[in-house]
Amino acid sequence: MHRNPILRLGLLAAALVLSACSGPQRQQAVPVVQRATAVTQAAAAAYDYDFNVFHSVVASHGMVVAEQALASQVGLDVLKRGGNAVDAAVAMGFALGVTLPYSGNTGGGGFMMVHDAATGQDVALDFREVAPQAATRDMYLDAQGNVIDGMSLHTHAAVGVPGTVAGLTHALQRWGSLPLAQLMQPAIAQAENGYPVSETLATVIEREKDNLGQWPASRAIFFRDDGTPLQRGDTLVQKDLATSLRLIAQGGASAFYRGPIADKIAAEMARHGGLISKQDLADYRVVEREPIRGTYRGYEVVTMPPPSSGGIHIVQLLNMMAHWPLQEWGHNSARSVHHMAEAMKLVYADRAEYLGDTDFVQVPVRGLLSRDYAAELVQKISDDRTLPAAQVKPGHPQAHEGSNTTHYSVMDKDGNMVAVTYTLNTHFGSGIVAEGTGIVLNNEMDDFSAKPGVPNVYGLIGGEANAIEARKRPLSSMSPTLVLKDGQPWLITGSPGGARIITTVLQILSNTMDYGMDPAEATASLRFHQQWTPDEIRVEQGFSVDTIALLRQRGQSVVVKPAMGRTQTIQVRDGQLLGFSDPRNPDGAALGY
Ligand code: GLY
Repeated sequence: MHRNPILRLGLLAAALVLSACSGPQRQQAVPVVQRATAVTQAAAAAYDYDFNVFHSVVASHGMVVAEQALASQVGLDVLKRGGNAVDAAVAMGFALGVTLPYSGNTGGGGFMMVHDAATGQDVALDFREVAPQAATRDMYLDAQGNVIDGMSLHTHAAVGVPGTVAGLTHALQRWGSLPLAQLMQPAIAQAENGYPVSETLATVIEREKDNLGQWPASRAIFFRDDGTPLQRGDTLVQKDLATSLRLIAQGGASAFYRGPIADKIAAEMARHGGLISKQDLADYRVVEREPIRGTYRGYEVVTMPPPSSGGIHIVQLLNMMAHWPLQEWGHNSARSVHHMAEAMKLVYADRAEYLGDTDFVQVPVRGLLSRDYAAELVQKISDDRTLPAAQVKPGHPQAHEGSNTTHYSVMDKDGNMVAVTYTLNTHFGSGIVAEGTGIVLNNEMDDFSAKPGVPNVYGLIGGEANAIEARKRPLSSMSPTLVLKDGQPWLITGSPGGARIITTVLQILSNTMDYGMDPAEATASLRFHQQWTPDEIRVEQGFSVDTIALLRQRGQSVVVKPAMGRTQTIQVRDGQLLGFSDPRNPDGAALGY
């Protein structure tokens, strides 16, 4: 990545008009309405400012959006110091591991989409966890062949070999410009000195107290001295984590995979019947993959390939949606929701059958992405009647695929785009902190099919393609996504949410591409989801009762459930950067300059 001016003259113009606003543009803490001058109001009118209920943060040079404001601040500082989008993403990745400890991580894994403005190249970086060498297909089954409750979630055997440290350091070597130690400094300081526990974090700790409370090393961090979980306003200090981060800052990834941290993780596993050995850690490799690409109404969508199912199914869904005049049917109208939900049902059936780690199994990627296949699937969808899930079988694509994950997006002044989704799987992952490291370990092994046909924690059914094998990567739904328009950066987005990631990201794409919404409106809109099993459309609270009634008339089962996804989105619009952090997590912030 070179200093290559790409954001066109519009950006420069916007920089001039917005120069009246000093300091970072921050969502929530500084309402847009309050900081807008006459000049910025004129610029903002280009994105329907006066029509919108929710407002994006507007900036000229760079933007970061994450679901934890301290980490956003870390990223913004890097950009302002002249670091590029990957520098900021690396600093934020380590900072979120400290400040968002239930999903940001050092002991998990994930995916990064990078658009390099200098070369125009897009790369999908896979730092997903892998199954340890000793993992076997039936490792979570009892003697009768039944899945042992909780074993793939809250035991040492649930932990996959972590990829985050390898992924972030790889990205920095490949595209970054600043030293690792400098970028990790804020995370180390936040771990060492602590920060106040928010209402959100306190709620998650309370909810996960039984899992965390089983392990002395986890209790020592997330519980008070009196044995009760940390409360809002308490200071969360993570001294061991600060030491581990310092070792990584000095020694790079090898401190984690071959050095003192590897020794401690392997010892923790050996003490408690876990499978990860020192050799597993030493063998961990990041993979650079070719992204999945699709086009939709003139936009180019660039997204994550397997071992994520997300990219393939997002493009598959968009290929089907291209058959329908959604704008005419109306946003979140019964007709639009019915058609999109029927399409979701069909692709989740394909997911269960075909998707797995392409390094181990043949996934009919081209078949699933083909427009002919989408046209075939569209024929199955009736305008006025739902197709019951029991009658839905995986299709026949031509032969040759907690919720707790977090996403963040970064764009720099040169037009480099980075979208990162990384995860521990469920909140606090396995709940296990490897003693002496302060590092919370994932439970990503649950993303494999413990037994074909038996649903995982997200209710997702997997098949043979996602069966457990040594060194294989479990199937994911994480979908960090970039969109280009006329070859130029247009949108960066992604979300946590387990099985619901795919449909959440899809709705951000549809809201922006079909309905012209800016990130704030696209994010604040109510969401819906259908995943084949269970056979129901899940909607967020506030969905119109009239729409629900019309959906039920079509035979749809509709249930109101908790909010879905926490998207972090940046859009380039009229030469400006618009960012919005999903209010479904009030701790987040979009910050720009
Ligand atoms: N652990 C959730 C996912 O990767 O989809």
